[in-house]
Amino acid sequence: MIEYRSVAKTFPDGTEAVHDFSLVLPSRSTTVLVGSSGCGKTTLLRMVNRMVDPSSGQVLIDDADVASRNPVELRRSIGYVMQHSGLLPHRKVVDNVATPLRLGGVGRRDARSRALAALETVGLDPTLADRYPGQLSGGQQQRVGVARGLVADPNVLLMDEPFGAVDPIVRAELQQELLHLQRDLGKTIVFVTHDIEEAFLLGDQVVILRKGGEIAQVGTPAQILADPADEFVRSFVGLDRGRRTLRIQEVDGKRVVVDADGRAAGVLA
Ligand SMILES: Nc1ncnc2c1ncn2[C@@H]1O[C@H](COP(=O)(O)OP(=O)(O)O)[C@@H](O)[C@H]1O
Ligand SMILES: [Mg+2]
Repeated sequence: MIEYRSVAKTFPDGTEAVHDFSLVLPSRSTTVLVGSSGCGKTTLLRMVNRMVDPSSGQVLIDDADVASRNPVELRRSIGYVMQHSGLLPHRKVVDNVATPLRLGGVGRRDARSRALAALETVGLDPTLADRYPGQLSGGQQQRVGVARGLVADPNVLLMDEPFGAVDPIVRAELQQELLHLQRDLGKTIVFVTHDIEEAFLLGDQVVILRKGGEIAQVGTPAQILADPADEFVRSFVGLDRGRRTLRIQEVDGKRVVVDADGRAAGVLA
């Protein structure tokens, strides 16, 4: 379990990125922080592994304040996947994936075999292992980033807009793979995105943020759709434009569900 207790962050230049944020993120499930650019998502995410320290308040992992942990060790114990994969261009794919293990003192041979296994876990062909990141497609690079996040088998995985830079088809593939992986692995995932569709697809718990990391609403996707907290949430999730509105039409005695444009979406059982 990760817990934020009245966390705030003001950067040295005076920018208040997070005003007062409290939240519990249950273990072995995915919490998605979703909000517009600049609302404080990355700042909140990086507080978990102490890439950012809060100006006030605490972040706890399993009831222990991360402030009492050595930042380097803490970072090694937590998986981190960045938007632009963050791969080192002059190191082979397998060495990129093995980096967290090598930094943690794992021997070269052992690290390599575990890195190869992690590449397989994320669906990458082992023949790509000895290429350089620049010789892979964007989607493959993102997969390598996920493999690196998972290689040390961390309990907590932080993902900062990891699929933001790839085309929509590859993005949909990566999202499905993450869902499958999470079904098997059961990590505590904190996932950041500005895309509400991605948030609803991946999140067990979805946190809709306003500027300053202010929580507009927390809930399951179904709870948020059923009972949006206010106009901001209605608009953010697209309820105001009728985009989410489904209607029932009787067709040959069956109840067919149609979307806002009248297209058939399914049949009620
Ligand atoms: N190191 C920093 N120094 C000063 N301001 C920062 C720094 N990092 C982020 N900010 C500011 O804090 C706010 C929140 O940033 P961020 O957490 O990166 O938002 P998001 O990830 O939601 O786009 C923004 O106004 C951003 O410009
Ligand atoms: Mg960000």
